[in-house]
Order: sequence, then C-alpha cells, then structure tokens
Amino acid sequence: MNLDELNQVARAMVAAGKGILAADESTGTIKKRFDAIGVESTEENRRDYRELLFRTTDGMKYISGVILYDETIWQKAKDGTPLVRLIQQAGSIPGIKVDEGTKPLPFCAGEVVTAGLDKLPDRLPKYYEQGARFAKWRAVIDIGVGIPSYACILANAHALARYAALCQVHNLVPIVEPEVLMDGDHDIDRCVEVTTWVLKETFQQLFYNRVALEGIVLKPNMAVPGKKCAKQASIDEVAEKTIKMLKACVPAAVPGIAFLSGGQSDEEATAHLDAMNKIGGLPWALTFSYGRALQAAPQKAWRGKPENVAAAQRAFAHRARMNGLATLGQWKADLEKMAA
Ligand code: 13P
Repeated sequence: MNLDELNQVARAMVAAGKGILAADESTGTIKKRFDAIGVESTEENRRDYRELLFRTTDGMKYISGVILYDETIWQKAKDGTPLVRLIQQAGSIPGIKVDEGTKPLPFCAGEVVTAGLDKLPDRLPKYYEQGARFAKWRAVIDIGVGIPSYACILANAHALARYAALCQVHNLVPIVEPEVLMDGDHDIDRCVEVTTWVLKETFQQLFYNRVALEGIVLKPNMAVPGKKCAKQASIDEVAEKTIKMLKACVPAAVPGIAFLSGGQSDEEATAHLDAMNKIGGLPWALTFSYGRALQAAPQKAWRGKPENVAAAQRAFAHRARMNGLATLGQWKADLEKMAA
C-alpha cells in the first residue's frame, strides 16, 4: 500500500468545485432506467449512453471521478477509444463498483448484506491495471418496524471494512458507502439515529481492519425523513442535522465525504449540499457522488435518439455545474431557472 498515493487520489476525488458521477448502475438497474425512457437495454445502447456522458466536456470539468460498472470499464467508444481513456482525457479519475449486490441476511427478515468479498483479491489488480484508482462498495440498511438489527449493521460494517482494507492493499481508494435508505415513513430524527449507529459501527470496523482513514472517501446518506413521512424537512434542517451527525461520527482524518442522492429530487440534492457547504468550517471536504440526481435529466432528454445527444449533454452539464457550485456553497435557486 502507498498511503501518500491513496491520500492524493482521495483528495482529488473531493477537490473543491468537483464531485463524483456514479455511472455504475448494474445491468438490472440500468435496464430499469432505460425502460422508463423507452430504450432497450443492449450492450451498445448502454455504451452509447455512457459515452455521451463522458464526452460532455462542459460537464466533465465538474466531475472529479466516475464510478463504472464492470461492463463499462472494458468497453470502447464507437471510434474505438476505451471509455476509461475518455474519462482520463476529461481530467477525471476512473473508479469501479466492486460489490456484487445484496443477499438476504439469515434470521433477519427484510434485511440484506452486501456480497462480493471472496473474489476481490483477484479482481482488484485487474481493475487497477485497467486504469481504476478507486472502488465502491455499497451497504444497504433499511429502516422499518424492528429494523435495522444489530446483526445487519455489524455484518454490513464488517464487509465494508474488509473491502476497504483489500482496496488499500491494492492501491485503490475505497469509497465506503453505508446507505440508510429513505424509503420508509420514518422522520428525520429516526434517520439521524440509525445513520449515527451505522456510521459509528462502520468506523469501528474500519479501525479493527486497520484501514487508513486518510485513504478513503465516505459516501453516506444525508439526514432526511423517509419519503412516506408526513413531516418533511426544510433544506436548512437537513443541512444542520446532517452536519451535526457527521461531526459526531466521522474522524477528521477522512479527506472527504461524497453524498449519495438516494432518491432525492435533482434540485433537492443540490440545495442540501449547497446549504451544508454554506455552513462551512468543516474538517472534511463535502461533495457529491450522485447517480440519479446527475443522470435523471440527461436520460429524459436523450431517450435513445442520436438527435437528442446534444440536449442530453446540455442537461448533464447543467446538473454537473449546479452541483459543482454546491460544493463551494455558491449555488442559487435562480441559476436553475436560467438554464431551463
Ligand atoms: P444515487 O445518487 O442515485 O443514490 O446513486 C449513488 C450510488 O452510487 C448508489 O450506490
């Protein structure tokens, strides 16, 4: 492990004014996204769509790193250029999702644990050779009646730490992503309570597994009420409660925190990040690692048609720029109207 190199990559991933594009939807997930816009999910269409994003020069200048799915890291653009090369040429760092999705957790009804540790030691050096400099592993924690259980939190935190240690051995920066879902009807305080527990356990497991915090990026959910909660929260409440929670849980040695969007609307995800960066005075950089909140707009504009590529690229560039401004606390709602 070269910790200086890991720290340098981690800091580049969370550099001011930029954030991460999560374009690592599994084949099943991208099919759902394509179904919604009436596009068949073929290997070629998936390639064309992702090529469109990576060739968006105006947008990629706000993108520090791109998380890829296994299929994409080996793919070539229409003209034969490897997609990884397009990302590098845009000044961005290629990364790779390495988890293999979730499996039911025995004796824990409704709960899951993320799989994929067994083959990691063989896969990681190949991804490094292909140009990846960071990886991602997502743990999923649901809030409901009687859940999460400690068994679920411990199993997921332990797997995250095992993955992170393996990544560092192979000189890849691990994005550590414990996602507490916003699907339920719980309120924001319940989200804070569960996320706090999950983050505490995650950092404890990272410590036991000897992971160097200077060489990771944390990808948490924000403190938000469940989507079905009657009492929604203001932008400021989300920002204040998220910062308070992170200060209590995330050591200052971590270079940066890159939030997932988790089903927030595009504009909410931007406004929340911006409000947190307006608070300022934080020990870590705060940025984005958005999937849906960066891609919903370009997907809607594209609809699989070559004549819509320019419009899709404009939509992606706009969201990337808005979120880039949010990392500096310089976003304004008016900027959204101007672009529309
Ligand atoms: P969302 O921003 O759509 O939640 O996706 C981020 C991600 O990479 C989830 O693992």
